[in-house]
Amino acid sequence: MEITIEKVLDALRYVDDPDLKKDLVTLNMIKDVVVDGKNISFTVVLTTPACPMKDMIHNACMNAILHYVDKTAIVKINMTATVTSKKEKDETTLRDVKNIIAVASGKGGVGKSTIAANLALALARQGAKVGIVDADIYGPSQHIMFGVENDAPGPGQFNGVSKMKPVESYGVKINSVGFLAGPNQAVALRGPMATKALSQLFYDTVWGELDYLIVDLPPGTGDIQISLCSQVKLTGAVIVCTPQPVAISDARKGIALFQIPQLNVPILGLVENMAWFTPEELPNNKYYIFGKDGVKKLAEEMHIPLLGQIPLVQSIREGADNGKPSVLEKDSAQALGFIELAQNVAQQVAIKNADMVVA
Ligand SMILES: Nc1ncnc2c1ncn2[C@@H]1O[C@H](COP(=O)(O)OP(=O)(O)OP(=O)(O)O)[C@@H](O)[C@H]1O
Ligand SMILES: [Mg+2]
Repeated sequence: MEITIEKVLDALRYVDDPDLKKDLVTLNMIKDVVVDGKNISFTVVLTTPACPMKDMIHNACMNAILHYVDKTAIVKINMTATVTSKKEKDETTLRDVKNIIAVASGKGGVGKSTIAANLALALARQGAKVGIVDADIYGPSQHIMFGVENDAPGPGQFNGVSKMKPVESYGVKINSVGFLAGPNQAVALRGPMATKALSQLFYDTVWGELDYLIVDLPPGTGDIQISLCSQVKLTGAVIVCTPQPVAISDARKGIALFQIPQLNVPILGLVENMAWFTPEELPNNKYYIFGKDGVKKLAEEMHIPLLGQIPLVQSIREGADNGKPSVLEKDSAQALGFIELAQNVAQQVAIKNADMVVA
């Protein structure tokens, strides 16, 4: 029996994207099918390069061809990704930015900036185009975490207008008030000026094409959070929290803010930071110094995905202070934890975007 492109596509209709719960052909994720005798090749276009199901989908496609088409076929599958977006095209510097993700929490010091830096870098390491806006106007930290505190945005052009070119570090584009104020200089801006500065970070920066623009928010539920939601169309928010009750109570407020009808920002999920302490010399020991699974339980109670549990590890703190986010430590447990977190975030973004046709 001759193998045809139709038969290949019919077989691939048996393979569902596990998150989007539709088959790959209906989702328009199969491209470039070529059949030459027993040789079959095609491309699977995933919704993110950070797809946790990549191997599983590859194997399912292979099995479907061997089972439904020809068990002696020679199959070559090319796995690629085009990140989806729900954002409407506009004529601002965010025109080619597909998804904007806020990293927030009600409480200070729970690790938002550390998580935001490692999340951005973990997405970039997996092949996505990533930027980060440090929206903590009064206490910026991304310029330090990415090791570029002595850098400054260069001149850029957008539609013939002078703009800033973001600083780049480890392949991530960054802009922050931290580049503009000296280390001993306080950023003394009243509310309206701070929201103007925030707007400039988005709209006076030539971002270019980005799959994910991560926004590191200050703590609380104030001016910056509210103006962010009105200034840009957020894909969703990632809420960072530590497991102890005082932090959980603030996280609830942080979540509630995004959920008020005027803002209506989807919550992509929760991150439990400092979930346990693991001393360097006893890597298998876990000490639950802030309590066990507080955020996990909150996620279950609120029916919000738990995106990851990140331990309290000295090298995460050192990485943040030394300008080398911990996800760069190849194959360490904490690096793998951040990669998994990024995959879960990308997965939730793809699910939120799923009612759009995949490009
Ligand atoms: N998982 C972790 N393991 C070890 N240290 C951590 C971890 N997460 C954060 N830290 C450290 O805790 C401190 C606070 O983290 P970070 O600045 O990211 O918090 P934040 O929520 O952004 O704070 P703020 O509310 O001030 O913006 C930093 O010194 C950081 O290096
Ligand atoms: Mg911070």
